[in-house]
Amino acid sequence: MNITYAEIDGFRNLKGISFEPDPRYNIIVGPNAQGKTNLLEAMWILSGCRSFRGSKEKDFVALDGNRMYSRIRLRDSVREHKISYEMTKGSNAQKTVFLNGVKQKGTRALFDVFKCIAFIPDDVDIIKGSPEKRRNFVDMAASQLNPLFVVHIAKHNAIMNQRNALLKEIMQGSANGNILEIWDRQAAHEGVLISYMRSEYITRINEICGRLYQTISGGDEKLELEYRSNVFRPEDFEKPCGEEAFERYFRKLRETAEYDIRTGSTHSGVNRDEISIKINGVSARDFGSQGQVKSAALVMKLAQAEIFTKRSKDPPVVFLDDVMGELDEKRQKFVFDMIKSMQVFLTTPNESALLPEIKGKILRISGGSITEEA
Ligand SMILES: Nc1ncnc2c1ncn2[C@@H]1O[C@H](COP(=O)(O)OP(=O)(O)O)[C@@H](O)[C@H]1O
Ligand SMILES: [Mg+2]
Repeated sequence: MNITYAEIDGFRNLKGISFEPDPRYNIIVGPNAQGKTNLLEAMWILSGCRSFRGSKEKDFVALDGNRMYSRIRLRDSVREHKISYEMTKGSNAQKTVFLNGVKQKGTRALFDVFKCIAFIPDDVDIIKGSPEKRRNFVDMAASQLNPLFVVHIAKHNAIMNQRNALLKEIMQGSANGNILEIWDRQAAHEGVLISYMRSEYITRINEICGRLYQTISGGDEKLELEYRSNVFRPEDFEKPCGEEAFERYFRKLRETAEYDIRTGSTHSGVNRDEISIKINGVSARDFGSQGQVKSAALVMKLAQAEIFTKRSKDPPVVFLDDVMGELDEKRQKFVFDMIKSMQVFLTTPNESALLPEIKGKILRISGGSITEEA
């Protein structure tokens, strides 16, 4: 799929932007703090995903403005879609989302329409950061393939919030401990599905990562991903996801219930899962060099793009924020080979750091406004 038109105004420092992107490469060039990342973010939020820089919606509207909008036309193999996201500031700050002229309740519907993948310097946190970063990566990637996954994650989060609130009430004596079991049944129901989906996705991505990492490292290094479920052993996933799995998950929640009540948080289940990432048999998080960690993060994102492209007639749109210029020639070539069927938006302070074969539309950005170059 590719964006055929974009129009943005009042989003952070962006002013009066409208352009027709190149179906292949769009190179956004400008010094620091001019709005390069803002421009990617303004398009990205139309995918219904949380901001890739982890920012809050209320910060989207320009500090000195009252209203922002970001609109795109997006062509996929079937049709052209129009997506619009508008927001006003103030006590009644509201966002209004339109998909093909129809007002939406939230951004959920966009998730099925606009698929994109962002590469950002912070991707190294997938390797180096907390287990939550790795879980989020897998959950996001798996959700792109199966939007139902998002529903299970949302349900599970809601159940966990209720359960954790209840734990505190039980501790304070204002609620009966027996009610916990009701929540545990519901949590187990969602948790089992999430565990199986994570297991399936990690198995797939592991195969691809292994191959890609071998190539990017010149053939002598091995990258391995493994799902460390908090509830299941690897061999448990060979059995179908049924009653036995539910019972195992439920029992696990019951086992830690007493400790959970004392501490006010849940210590078992998918919120405690880990994804082990090893390079040449040792933890990449603890022992990986900077270069290895960077390559591993890159490979994981590229694997996500490959899985997605194989599944769908419509390859995702790729956003590369300050990533390319940082890579050596060999790695840049590798990345560009992997994303050659996709529309790409990349930012760089310095286009001369890019491979000469990366040619496309150049958008110069300064103070939140763009000028196009042929
Ligand atoms: N809500 C906002 N209102 C106005 N300006 C903002 C807002 N949020 C960020 N900015 C400005 O955006 C600029 C940073 O944009 P960014 O896209 O991160 O730059 P870069 O080109 O380095 O990627 C800064 O000048 C910052 O002050
Ligand atoms: Mg930036």
